[in-house]
Amino acid sequence: MSTGSPVWVPKEIDAERPNAARVYDYLLGGACNFRADREFAEKLLENNPEIAGAVRHNRAFLGRAVRFCVDQGIRQFLDLGSGVPTVGNVHEIAQSRAPGCRVVYVDHEPVAVAHSQRLLEHNRDADALLADLLDVDTVLGAEPVRRLIDFARPVAVIMTAVLHFVPDSARPHATVARYVAEMAAGSFLVLSHGVRGEQEQVRRGYRMYDQSGTPAGGRAREEIHAFMTGTEVLEPGVVWTTQWRPEFNPRARVEPAWIYAAVGRKA
Ligand SMILES: C[S@@+](CC[C@H](N)C(=O)[O-])C[C@H]1O[C@@H](n2cnc3c(N)ncnc32)[C@H](O)[C@@H]1O
Repeated sequence: MSTGSPVWVPKEIDAERPNAARVYDYLLGGACNFRADREFAEKLLENNPEIAGAVRHNRAFLGRAVRFCVDQGIRQFLDLGSGVPTVGNVHEIAQSRAPGCRVVYVDHEPVAVAHSQRLLEHNRDADALLADLLDVDTVLGAEPVRRLIDFARPVAVIMTAVLHFVPDSARPHATVARYVAEMAAGSFLVLSHGVRGEQEQVRRGYRMYDQSGTPAGGRAREEIHAFMTGTEVLEPGVVWTTQWRPEFNPRARVEPAWIYAAVGRKA
């Protein structure tokens, strides 16, 4: 796509600045991105070629976690920081395993939400909302959330690869705690988060994000574990995405996948 504005581009978009949602889309092989996003992603890959695998492993973890939740009886999903629709969207995975699963996507990036809404036009059990996940009252009070998600019943709240875009100053742990407080017993929290690596290439990668429209910063494993407060972290704990209940060869990859993953159940 060129940086000229195709019809699907919401007016408020600054196509000249790389944006996390569209960079991630490009890294996953999607077409919903601008030149600035692609150039930025290529620089990220130059700095650390393993990023390409890391985003795919994150996406694969999301798929396994959604299937796991469906198998545990969950029929409603709130996906916060859902991104541009791509391979293996939550509603596709959940509804193919259990028709009628209800899903609400939330993102603060207008292109991601416009695409999600278009994709879901004829899906009465799923919708997308343009909102900042940090504004918990707005998210929980929004029409699609109230229509599709019943917080009195178990729900899966998903925050994958999003909280590293939220700085400590915005109090992300308190925000997650508020969602957990709203969740009924038997609900699940599905989370993944970029690591704060000591390696220079990891630090350089985050410094590059600082120059983008969407700064990012990894966190230590213990800080990521702290997001799960209020839930019982299920086996195998807070682990690399590749290590979270792999479906094929459990020993295939154990080296760092750059992103930690965890699923917790609220008692
Ligand atoms: C790397 S993508 C992850 C997409 C998807 N969750 C996944 O794991 O495949 C991060 C997404 O989080 C969104 N995001 C970042 N901060 C957000 C916030 N405060 N509120 C809502 N969305 C946010 C970005 O716009 C982007 O689409």
